[in-house]
Amino acid sequence: MDPMHAIIIREPGGPEVLTWTEVTDPEPRPGEVIVDVAASAVNRADLLQRLGAYDPPPGIPPYPGLECSGTISALGDGVTGWQVGDRVCALLGGGGYAERVAVPVGQLLPVPGDLIEAAGFPEVACTVWSNLIQVAHLRAGETVLIHGGGSGIGTFAIQFAKALGARVVTTARRAKHARLLELGADQVIDYTEEDFAKAMTGKADVILDIQGASYLERNIEALATNGRLVVIGLQGGRSGELNLGALMAKRGSVSVTALRARPPEEKAQIVSGVREEVWPLIESGAIRPIIDRRIPMAEAARAHEVVAENAHTGKVLLVLGQ
Ligand SMILES: NC(=O)c1ccc[n+]([C@@H]2O[C@H](COP(=O)([O-])OP(=O)(O)OC[C@H]3O[C@@H](n4cnc5c(N)ncnc54)[C@H](OP(=O)(O)O)[C@@H]3O)[C@@H](O)[C@H]2O)c1
Repeated sequence: MDPMHAIIIREPGGPEVLTWTEVTDPEPRPGEVIVDVAASAVNRADLLQRLGAYDPPPGIPPYPGLECSGTISALGDGVTGWQVGDRVCALLGGGGYAERVAVPVGQLLPVPGDLIEAAGFPEVACTVWSNLIQVAHLRAGETVLIHGGGSGIGTFAIQFAKALGARVVTTARRAKHARLLELGADQVIDYTEEDFAKAMTGKADVILDIQGASYLERNIEALATNGRLVVIGLQGGRSGELNLGALMAKRGSVSVTALRARPPEEKAQIVSGVREEVWPLIESGAIRPIIDRRIPMAEAARAHEVVAENAHTGKVLLVLGQ
């Protein structure tokens, strides 16, 4: 077998440190399969990892890439239910920017449509489902405020929340509004011109937040009685002041979660829930893959530049062999 290649991070730094290099092939441990990667996708966390601010959990390859799609080429001991040749996509702790990756079987999903486009689903589907359903218990008829509607997470969350029967309000820069309305958003707020908290005071049953500290006070203002704020990103800072009195008056809650560092058993449980509750929505076309562009994996540096500039709407895919 030819030696495999992966994108290594030569040293912490800008996109230019990402280098397509020959590396050691992965060996499947018991309960793992080897996936020959067809595509991976860029997630915001990959940019932090490149900067040296988000190391992979122990036992995970050092290459970036939290998701991939491809074909199973080898089975580790004890693997049942999957065969060599199966087309899969996978939630990863890292290592997706590579020609091959070892994946615990609990993190595999069948390809719900196009093989390449499937690379952009696992991370957003698992993050959005686990937070909107397991944590926030979003229900039909409720109003959800999704910050950063144009992101990979946002474009998926809008479609998922609509499919659930929620009313969807989202924030994004003006240039992305038409696309987000077309995806099903009921209202889009340009956060650069309008204070979302004024537009939403007391109206949001659930908020999916990616800004953290800079939005904390205004998110509490936007919460409805019994509202649930779920913070999944800290783009606006890690440390803020929480007005417990304001939260108490609304009987509200604040949760802060991360997917990557969870143990494999928890990831497997989320993947299983996603397969049961989200995959049928993708297979039926109720949720579509929103792909901004495809870039050859060896040119991952260019993909990181696109994402850093927020020039994209939806996912930026890194493809192999095209
Ligand atoms: N905790 C977890 O488990 C988990 C898992 C996955 C992702 N995340 C987090 O979720 C977020 C989205 O991830 P992603 O990979 O989908 O990101 P992404 O595609 O890179 O998108 C980032 C988005 O942030 C938006 N944005 C920037 N400033 C904003 C502001 N002040 N208000 C509202 N939106 C703003 C940008 O949109 P505009 O062009 O409209 O500014 C852009 O669409 C990231 O913070 C990521 O770290 C967390």
